[in-house]
Amino acid sequence: MSGFGKIGVIGAMDSETAQLISLLDGRKKETLSGLDLYTGTMRGKTVTVVKCGIGKVNAARTAQLLIDRFSPDAIINTGIAGGTDPELSVGDTVVATGLVQHDFDLTGFGYTKGAMSGFEKDRPTVFSCDERLTEALFTAAVRVSGETDESADPSGASDDSTIAKGLVATGDVFVYDTEIRRFIRDTFGAACTEMEGGAIAQVCALSGVPFAVLRVLSDTAGGEAAESFDAFEKMAADRSAAICETFISLL
Ligand code: ADE
Repeated sequence: MSGFGKIGVIGAMDSETAQLISLLDGRKKETLSGLDLYTGTMRGKTVTVVKCGIGKVNAARTAQLLIDRFSPDAIINTGIAGGTDPELSVGDTVVATGLVQHDFDLTGFGYTKGAMSGFEKDRPTVFSCDERLTEALFTAAVRVSGETDESADPSGASDDSTIAKGLVATGDVFVYDTEIRRFIRDTFGAACTEMEGGAIAQVCALSGVPFAVLRVLSDTAGGEAAESFDAFEKMAADRSAAICETFISLL
């Protein structure tokens, strides 16, 4: 795929970035504003990987710094999430079609939940992912799951996991409560929830940088979310990183 020679990859935690950093050939580290940015070659592309820390402010400032310093052709956010679609389970993959911020609330001024000023008042503001990148992420997820013939199974999965495209809901909340989970699902129709993607999407949209977001579920954002996160963080983060690497080979 042409036009994506220089890629920025953001993950929130070491579990989401360490594997990708180790894959960079000729790796060089640069520290800016306390952030360690690792640049090298991966599958023939110039890739910068950075751990942003948890939450929207960390994610936003990292995305902007990455854009200002490296002018990437695209930014990918890789990591884990809590599932909000009842059809999805731990280990399933969500490739984002768009991002909404579930904790953005101007309802006091007559906006619907998630609607931002400067956008339509009566529907949640969604930052749409780049379609070519999203397709490539989906293809990569299918490959990593071991499926080679997508037409054989429209869900795209050949191991036991599902690969879904859907809306991702971001907020400064680790969701471990069925009521909040239901609110996110019912209000936005989100497939999963996490804490950075929406901020990265907004910054990229403001700067005109194509972006995509990939999440593998570590939990289902209900009562067992914290225990499930602890048990499955590594599995989910490793899978997301593996998909990200395959994705870069497809660009
Ligand atoms: N990341 C992984 N699981 C999550 C959850 N339940 N809520 C928010 N972010 C998450």
